[in-house]
Amino acid sequence: MTHSPQHLRLGVNIDHVATIRNARGGDHPDPVKAALIAAKAGADGITAHLREDRRHIRDEDIAALMDALTIPLNLEMAATEEMLEIALRHKPHAACIVPERREERTTEGGLDAAGQDNHLKPFIARLNDANIRVSLFIEPDPAQVEAAIRLKAPVVEFHTGRYAHLEGEARADELKRIADAAALAAKNGIEPHAGHGLTYDNVVPIAAIPQIAELNIGHFLIGEAIFDGLDASVAKMRTLMDTAR
Ligand code: PXP
Repeated sequence: MTHSPQHLRLGVNIDHVATIRNARGGDHPDPVKAALIAAKAGADGITAHLREDRRHIRDEDIAALMDALTIPLNLEMAATEEMLEIALRHKPHAACIVPERREERTTEGGLDAAGQDNHLKPFIARLNDANIRVSLFIEPDPAQVEAAIRLKAPVVEFHTGRYAHLEGEARADELKRIADAAALAAKNGIEPHAGHGLTYDNVVPIAAIPQIAELNIGHFLIGEAIFDGLDASVAKMRTLMDTAR
């Protein structure tokens, strides 16, 4: 994709379309249909998390998305041999390595890249060799950015969950941590992304951080789609992101 440096990409995470589908065990609503609507409404990419327990996205969804999409697929996955084999088989544009705990409701906290160097290094190397753009989902912490540099990850995605839940001064402090971490990553040749818990109300300050190249947003957009339609929720988020630049 060619974009001006100011263009902030929007990756729409369609996991929770699959959550609703799976509640009844059939094939409706179809996450691929949602992905195509999101693409038409202004998404630059689609993000899907294939969890170990397959609670939302399933293996066949990844195959169907790869077939149907004309915009890049960002596969979120844990650093396991099973997921590595799936990524190497489907060759999505990008793979975002996330921590995964069975009991968690969503991805709570970033990957401890600094504490898992030995495990992650060969893993990232194999994805890099397959031309899959690796991203590490980390906290906005300089030690984690330093680890990403050592691990030769081309991209980091900063976990904005803490930012989203905080208020007032504490939120401002967390925003500064994200901005500083984005500057450190960019200075070292790593492309910073951000995501988790972003909404119409909190997206603008994150979108205004100049080094951040992509936001990945899911739960809120799928929730708003119930009221306004997915095309409208994606288009509104797109507009808010654009006005922040
Ligand atoms: N980025 C990553 C790495 C994630 O794991 C998630 C949640 O699956 C998101 C972004 C999107 O978060 P949310 O659904 O809260 O918008």
